[in-house]
Amino acid sequence: MEQTFAIIKPDAVERNLIGKILERIEAEGFRIASMKRVLLTLPIAEGFYHVHKERPFFKDLTKSMCEGPVILMVLEKEGAIKAWRKLMGATNPAEADEGTLRKEFAVSLEKNSVHGSDAPETAVFEISYFFSQTEIIP
Ligand code: CMP
Repeated sequence: MEQTFAIIKPDAVERNLIGKILERIEAEGFRIASMKRVLLTLPIAEGFYHVHKERPFFKDLTKSMCEGPVILMVLEKEGAIKAWRKLMGATNPAEADEGTLRKEFAVSLEKNSVHGSDAPETAVFEISYFFSQTEIIP
């Protein structure tokens, strides 16, 4: 069973969308193998998004990820990485398909409500960045 890493971002937590997003995740057949609610610090957010550190949006992105609590999750399903990216929709909500979480809930590229790993290596890094093996119950 493949695992991927998911975040419900501060903009969605602030608008009380946790339940609606979890409902969609479960309806799509994902198992939530681990989950926690945390307030990220700037160094933690910077380390998590280190691949983007040269990008012009890095400062705003990392700051916005610390503006309120986030929900961190390990999701499991056959083909979980692609399936979660499909359910999220395009990074920019203006380009997201009907029926995707970002089409329904995101307000902008920055406040795009959810995050997901984009490849198997990224999933391994992102899961281990926030979860120890003993916290993940398959
Ligand atoms: P996420 O999937 O969390 O990965 C990186 C985040 O950077 C992305 O979602 C967006 O919220 C944010 N971002 C802001 N500007 C851009 C941009 N121009 N291209 C890609 N991502 C961006």
